[in-house]
Amino acid sequence: MKQSARQVRADGSSIGFVPTMGALHAGHLSLVRSALAECHPVIASIFVNPTQFGPHEDFQKYPRTMEADSQQLEDAGVDYLFAPDALEMYPRGFRTWVNVEGLSECLEGRVRQGHFRGVTTVVLKLLEIVQPQKAYFGRKDAQQGRIIQQMARDLHLDSEIVVCPIVREPDGLAMSSRNVYLNSDERRAATILFRALDGARASIAHGERDALRIKAAIREMLRAEPLAEPEYAELVDAETLESVTRLRRACLALVAVRIGRVRLIDNLLIEERDGAFLTKL
Ligand code: PAJ
Repeated sequence: MKQSARQVRADGSSIGFVPTMGALHAGHLSLVRSALAECHPVIASIFVNPTQFGPHEDFQKYPRTMEADSQQLEDAGVDYLFAPDALEMYPRGFRTWVNVEGLSECLEGRVRQGHFRGVTTVVLKLLEIVQPQKAYFGRKDAQQGRIIQQMARDLHLDSEIVVCPIVREPDGLAMSSRNVYLNSDERRAATILFRALDGARASIAHGERDALRIKAAIREMLRAEPLAEPEYAELVDAETLESVTRLRRACLALVAVRIGRVRLIDNLLIEERDGAFLTKL
């Protein structure tokens, strides 16, 4: 991969890169489309990164659908697929870790300790191998995107980190490789994340600016779904990921919910423009 990427760059081409863990869905493919629109060639990776899974998480049973995935990427027009194995990425004696302090311990990082250390380490390695002009991530994992942007800034990486919109099912559920674990009752209940955030969006459109009230309303909606076990619902500054009490600049409303054995996350982006707050689900 390093050799091919080096050759491509020598031709003056600008590489677009889409890192994934496979089990591809329309969310991943939207990143591929953004990359294809802005870069050539486009390189995707599939690597179920062991170091970002906790000891009791679903690494072993994370869905692996390599055949279908590589077909989808080819059909979409991706030029190269990089699918290393774990020993190539983490040979014996591997010792170096990257940690973005202060953004990695809250929210997802509090529930999934060490998760972001695994993410930033593997993403830095992938960016180093591919050295793309632009690398594409989804806002579905808003904290991950923010952390990777910070890493790129702090380490003077040459790649521009692009964060793309969330792709949703028709009923609002954010697409996720883990949605396949949901049975039909759980699948119905899973729309509660979208509905709670959509409620927040409506109240902001009606002039609500009090973050504590917005948060309380989200929590109340999540609690009302009997199959959902809320883990957190927070309203934070999009830059620092610290809690806010009133809406200001760019904020994120973030939720994590357990439904059956599945953990689902979702978020609402709230941006200020000329004194008005615009929301993106
Ligand atoms: P994975 O969960 O496979 O996601 C790959 C990329 O697709 C991430 O940037 C994620 O935010 C994006 N994505 C997932 N669902 C999406 C949706 N519904 N809409 C838009 N984008 C979506 O995230 C990872 O893998 C890993 O942590 C990785 C960055 C590859 C490092 O191992």
